Amino acid sequence: MAEKFYITTPIYYANAKPHLGHAFTAVYADVLARWQKIQRKDVFFTVGTDEHGAKIAKAAEKAGREPQNFVDEIAGEYKKTWQALNIQYNDFIRTTSGKHKEGVLAFIKKIHEAGDIYEGVYEGLYCVECENFVLERNLKNGLCPDHLIAPKKVKEKNHFFNLKKYLPLVKEKITTGELKITPESRRNEILSIIGGGVPDFSITRENVKWGIPFPYDKKQTIYVWADALTNYITVLDFPDGEKYKNFWPADAHILGADINKFHSIFWPAMLISAGLPLPKNIFVHGLFTVNGQKMSKTLGNVIDPIDMVNKFGIDGARYLILSQFPAGEHGDIKAEEFADKYNSDLANGVGNLFERALTMMIDFRDGVVDVQKNVEEKIKFLAEKTAKKYENNFENYKLYKALADVFSFIKRLDRYINKEQPWILNKNKNEKLDEVL
Ligand code: MSP
Repeated sequence: MAEKFYITTPIYYANAKPHLGHAFTAVYADVLARWQKIQRKDVFFTVGTDEHGAKIAKAAEKAGREPQNFVDEIAGEYKKTWQALNIQYNDFIRTTSGKHKEGVLAFIKKIHEAGDIYEGVYEGLYCVECENFVLERNLKNGLCPDHLIAPKKVKEKNHFFNLKKYLPLVKEKITTGELKITPESRRNEILSIIGGGVPDFSITRENVKWGIPFPYDKKQTIYVWADALTNYITVLDFPDGEKYKNFWPADAHILGADINKFHSIFWPAMLISAGLPLPKNIFVHGLFTVNGQKMSKTLGNVIDPIDMVNKFGIDGARYLILSQFPAGEHGDIKAEEFADKYNSDLANGVGNLFERALTMMIDFRDGVVDVQKNVEEKIKFLAEKTAKKYENNFENYKLYKALADVFSFIKRLDRYINKEQPWILNKNKNEKLDEVL
């Protein structure tokens, strides 16, 4: 039987339609999933939408809509965008679906039975855009550093998850490499957060009605992050589904640096509490800005992935998304440079090389080239080296590097053609022509 490979993207908030940031992770994961399929693995690749919580309820209210009706529309927008980008997912999980709710309750039951949920009062600050409690010391001029809004003071009864109990174990799994977090810088970031101490987190909220009711205290709903992270198993029909048995644990969770802490600390701790295996690898990519600024509706710099597909075609758009910056780092995208990059890399680079080579094969040899001829050693060596590096980069999720190497090989071939001048070889009836072609 083929080896399995389970890969996921985050489930995105259903508060607005997708932008290029969401598409970046989706395309990234889709390319990795396809790569694993080419390796003949039995791949399961999931995407979805995060539809509960205060942030969504607020967005629905602002739009004057019922939350369910509102998220139905946004989930549709996501599906439309993924189709436009040819994202070949196996399942799309929505947190308002019946199967998700069932799985979340089964998961919470296990944590409850382990004795890891206790009642308490939370008093402090909450940033609704982060859907997270924030600490005074992390604010910038009194504002949430990520969303530049003032967090709300709250005091409410919550049920807490006993994270403290599991922090040492989570740390151990990370340091031994049983739980891999890549790249290294993101792993170190998590170890330093753990070192600084992480308070227990709320597993329920009191004043948020839009969510899954907490079965052990009906006045509470399950905290949106506990609800959302569980998608990675509910999509496989946890607890009893065949898919769950076949595909869990995940081989790779792909996500942005903004949500590393939730995936690399909260999620493993909850899984250990519930007695479930941990994901094997958490791959964390950097976030990009557009012309130096965070994409936002107010700034008007939000890039719609569908517009990109309309302009550059599906593969063109996918290439432009992946070739902007090395995913291990934060990056900046300049939308006005997309057309130049399309022209230089795709039209003049790969397009021109094929056009030139094929035209000469047809004109000089009626389209039949003796492939038994030796290929020049240097070119052969470089081709093999590029292929090996490509494979290695794919195995290490370095797609930017994999692409960059291919394009430097293309440039090398262009230089080779210019040097060898097959048109002269043809004119002089030089035998070397077949080798060069
Ligand atoms: N709903 C949570 C995730 C729950 S997963 C169990 C959430 N949603 S989100 O809509 O805010 O999506 C955040 C993710 O979108 C990032 O981690 C990243 O994958 C992607 N990106 C959004 N903006 C991005 C950039 N500007 N750059 C790169 N990726 C970005 O958090």
